[in-house]
Amino acid sequence: MGITPPALTPAQKSLFLTLGGRAFDSRLPRPFLGDTMADEVLRKTGYDVAKFPTLSSRLVDPRTKVFDIAVRAKRLDEAVRQFVTRHPDAVVLDLGAGLDSRMFRVDPPHTVDWYDIDFPEVIAVRQQVLPQPANAHGIGADLTDPHWLDDVPDDRPSVIVADGLIAFLTQEGFVSLLNRLTSHFPSGEVAFNSYTTYAVWTVKHIPGFAAIAGGVANPGFNDPREPERWAPALTLAEEIFLTRAPELTDMPLSVRLASRLFAPSPALSRMLGATVLRYCF
Ligand SMILES: C[S@@+](CC[C@H](N)C(=O)[O-])C[C@H]1O[C@@H](n2cnc3c(N)ncnc32)[C@H](O)[C@@H]1O
Repeated sequence: MGITPPALTPAQKSLFLTLGGRAFDSRLPRPFLGDTMADEVLRKTGYDVAKFPTLSSRLVDPRTKVFDIAVRAKRLDEAVRQFVTRHPDAVVLDLGAGLDSRMFRVDPPHTVDWYDIDFPEVIAVRQQVLPQPANAHGIGADLTDPHWLDDVPDDRPSVIVADGLIAFLTQEGFVSLLNRLTSHFPSGEVAFNSYTTYAVWTVKHIPGFAAIAGGVANPGFNDPREPERWAPALTLAEEIFLTRAPELTDMPLSVRLASRLFAPSPALSRMLGATVLRYCF
């Protein structure tokens, strides 16, 4: 259909890597996430994900190509689902939502208000390719702009997720965003996949990520307690290592063996597999 705007920045283009990962996952005989809407959305955009060799390579096993993207999305969905089950009056923020159909996977109660925030160009595409339920709101803004939160209710508990976003924020932008979020809401949770310094180096230097490398602005961090120092309202609640994911039982033997080797060590797990961090405030 080809509705993709022609001039996306590398940070904006990165949404097709995660969307493509979830779409390819849904085509597997036994998907990890099973989000068929991701595949529909990808087809509607007409975007050629062959621009991401990490997805299109025939040398890598299809399950290995999508594991990190699909399983970290699943962990973040679970964090949101558990929160809205406890707080049916919650506000959900999906920061750097891209074209993700998380709201349809989580299927929150109608009493929840759900906000997808991304650059205006991306939100405009979202509105063409995804359904817009009455309690879904798109905010087209740069997340580092201090004013986009002005229209979001500030008197309800909030669960805030960011899938694939942090690498594209400067350190200053990330820290001020965390502090603005924790001061805006009375209480809540923040969950995101983290990027270690090694992961940032990888995205910048491995040719498979060339299409998005120019957008990477964050130095990464290795200690999950760092955000508690940057935003003192946050308390680390959980560090989830994908090297310990139950879904690994369905992966090729080589990946299972490598994960079994790395899983006992938090340092190796952080460095070599995806990690989801969950904080309370
Ligand atoms: C890797 S993509 C992930 C998209 C989506 N969360 C997903 O999982 O498919 C990163 C997203 O963050 C968005 N993004 C990066 N920096 C941003 C900023 N400063 N303000 C708003 N959105 C931003 C990009 O436009 C892109 O959609």
